[in-house]
Amino acid sequence: MLRRIALLLKKKLVNVAGSKPDLLSIPDDVSFAAIDGTPVTAGGYVFSEFGINSRKNSILGISQCRSSVIKIQIKEEPNKANTLEQEAQFLAELNAADCISAPRLLSTGSLAPSEVPFASFGLERKQESERYSYIIMQYIPSASTVSIADVLLAIVEQQKLGYFHGDIKPNNVRFDPEQKICILIDYDQSQRLTQEQRDMTPHEFLLWAMGQTFRDSSSKVKIDALHDERKRNAYFNGNAFRIDSTTLYKEQMTTNSESGVYHSFATPDVFADGSRILGTREQWLKKIAVTPDEKVLDVGCNGGVVSFYMHDRGASVTGIDVDQCIVTAAQILANIFNKNVSFSALNLDDAETLPEYDTVLLFSVIHHTEKLERNCSLLATRCNRILIECRLVEKGKGPRGKHWKDTSEWNFESIEDLQKGLENLFAPHKVVRTFGPGDKGRFLFELIKD
Ligand SMILES: C[S@@+](CC[C@H](N)C(=O)[O-])C[C@H]1O[C@@H](n2cnc3c(N)ncnc32)[C@H](O)[C@@H]1O
Repeated sequence: MLRRIALLLKKKLVNVAGSKPDLLSIPDDVSFAAIDGTPVTAGGYVFSEFGINSRKNSILGISQCRSSVIKIQIKEEPNKANTLEQEAQFLAELNAADCISAPRLLSTGSLAPSEVPFASFGLERKQESERYSYIIMQYIPSASTVSIADVLLAIVEQQKLGYFHGDIKPNNVRFDPEQKICILIDYDQSQRLTQEQRDMTPHEFLLWAMGQTFRDSSSKVKIDALHDERKRNAYFNGNAFRIDSTTLYKEQMTTNSESGVYHSFATPDVFADGSRILGTREQWLKKIAVTPDEKVLDVGCNGGVVSFYMHDRGASVTGIDVDQCIVTAAQILANIFNKNVSFSALNLDDAETLPEYDTVLLFSVIHHTEKLERNCSLLATRCNRILIECRLVEKGKGPRGKHWKDTSEWNFESIEDLQKGLENLFAPHKVVRTFGPGDKGRFLFELIKD
């Protein structure tokens, strides 16, 4: 009776969560329990808690530090598109492409029957001559709900990298609370995409993906909210995926504006309703020379609009930003746009030193840092050229918890005074070109090491 009440309660909770259009309820994961006898050692990892999947074709174990999971195939599954080895190959390819929404493949190999904990599941072991293949992957515990927008971001990232997961259903969806992204697990139904499929817009691709059936009839996109056209449209602007509907965008704090989003995107694949596009800056930037493979650091890169522009001009770009969420979003955007730009989270105020660059970009950022003078001197020692966008009067702010705190400021009366001020801050660099005023009174200065 008690069990029945618990089941009813659980069902109710799932329905309540499910009634929110934005959240997908995730059923209970495989339950893991400590096994009798010696823990299993494989690929340098030690596993002592195991469970069995619902089809009873794989035994799964969690490592003692709960950071990796082993999948041991105990029975071939003829209905699956991929063998365990092929599944490992998909993961290896996604990892090599720096895909953010796939778990890391850590190891592969095989175990003798005596090493597999069959007895814990009432199964009989086979002849000792047989071996059982395994793969070891990064373990991401199951969250109780995952936002549909986050699932879509994972699907779009993998589509643009050339892959379809092939079995999108609640059991295969995880949420990594540290990275704040959806990770898709279980690649036994995955497929490589043709160029035509990769080139589809995310909305077209989703419709294609939902229409897919595989040899296993359960393998198709099964998320109800996506089958309802009205609900589905909330995640798209036309055919472009609204990246600003994801947890990464909702939790990033990089601008104190009403929308909370700084960089707008309006490509056929991605849309974000922010406050700035390349706009006036592009007409100035076009006039600035960029040499092939020039090493560029984009400080306060945000969603990557300027980094992507400099990449398209032939530069080798690294973007840094204090906000981990926007950096992860920028990395995923780089994968979606197929642009080789590297992004990482760094607070310039905490950087003791930096690698050397040819050019440092400081677009509407330096006054938002706290150690203005120290940061400018550090950057001046690390590059030959600085491109800085700023106004005569700047009053910086930075998020501290849920509030915005004043950081650095300046107040110059004329463009000549601002130029001198910048030359002091970035000595021995000298201003060689000035553009503006443009967007909301901003200027762009090019400074070269004297
Ligand atoms: C006004 S936005 C400018 C974004 C971009 N540079 C542009 O002009 O399009 C300022 C950016 O700088 C970042 N930022 C602020 N303080 C920072 C710091 N101390 N270190 C690194 N990034 C910082 C913010 O997170 C935000 O993304």
